[in-house]
Amino acid sequence: MPLKIGELVLLMSVDSSYLTEVRKGELHTADGVFALENLKRKNFGDKIRTHLGNEFIIVKPNIKDILEKKVKRLPQIIMPKDVALILAYTGISRGSNVVDIGTGSGFLSIFIASHVDPGKVVTYEKERKNFEVAKKNILASRLKNLRIKLKNGLAGISEKNLDLITVDFKGAEKFVKKANKSLKIGGYFVAYSPYVEQVKAVVSEMRKVGFSSIMTVENIVREWRVSDHTLPEPSGIMHTGFITFARKAK
Ligand SMILES: C[S@@+](CC[C@H](N)C(=O)[O-])C[C@H]1O[C@@H](n2cnc3c(N)ncnc32)[C@H](O)[C@@H]1O
Repeated sequence: MPLKIGELVLLMSVDSSYLTEVRKGELHTADGVFALENLKRKNFGDKIRTHLGNEFIIVKPNIKDILEKKVKRLPQIIMPKDVALILAYTGISRGSNVVDIGTGSGFLSIFIASHVDPGKVVTYEKERKNFEVAKKNILASRLKNLRIKLKNGLAGISEKNLDLITVDFKGAEKFVKKANKSLKIGGYFVAYSPYVEQVKAVVSEMRKVGFSSIMTVENIVREWRVSDHTLPEPSGIMHTGFITFARKAK
């Protein structure tokens, strides 16, 4: 089916890629100028050239493309490597319902919403400035199952029978009792904490409340440079945060 006006496309070559939408006008890039209206007659999988003759294939962008290229990042986001662990270790899937407290720029919420769609994700952000950034990012993600509230999570979690509650800021221990009331039996509470002291505080509270399967992990991903002299990349992100998981047991 030919591409429609407003549709998002990823223009991908071996060396570079650009996210844009089908519209009038031009996209100026380091590889040359794309006449975007020409996309209208194309399909995903077709090719398009810039005015310099550089060839790109038209790809349907996924949520990671959109997060990398279309969404504004506030200073601290949860990186894909850690999101992957949260999705896999909690086993949430299509139809799961989630509350993410502390939206920030919305990276975690957007990843989760894309994963559980048509399940619902509600995210709370207490700072108006961050709320406004996240609102635009959620709009850019085009997800319809993600709702943001300008709300301090300490005021309480109104949603019930949840599969997962996530907290990504200092003081996650203050949410353990509240989470226990809003989760379904077997549902997960996940705290993301850069420092071990925060991990100890949240784990202690999880034990007091009677959560099951408490586990803290750190996910270190090392990229390798593959050539005739293959070796690990000399630099990269090592520590991002500790992820603590626990399941509601009563
Ligand atoms: C580290 S950022 C979250 C980043 C987010 N997980 C992401 O991947 O983009 C923490 C956010 O939590 C918000 N926050 C802190 N305390 C809060 C509370 N009690 N209720 C709601 N939001 C809170 C902060 O304003 C900040 O925007």
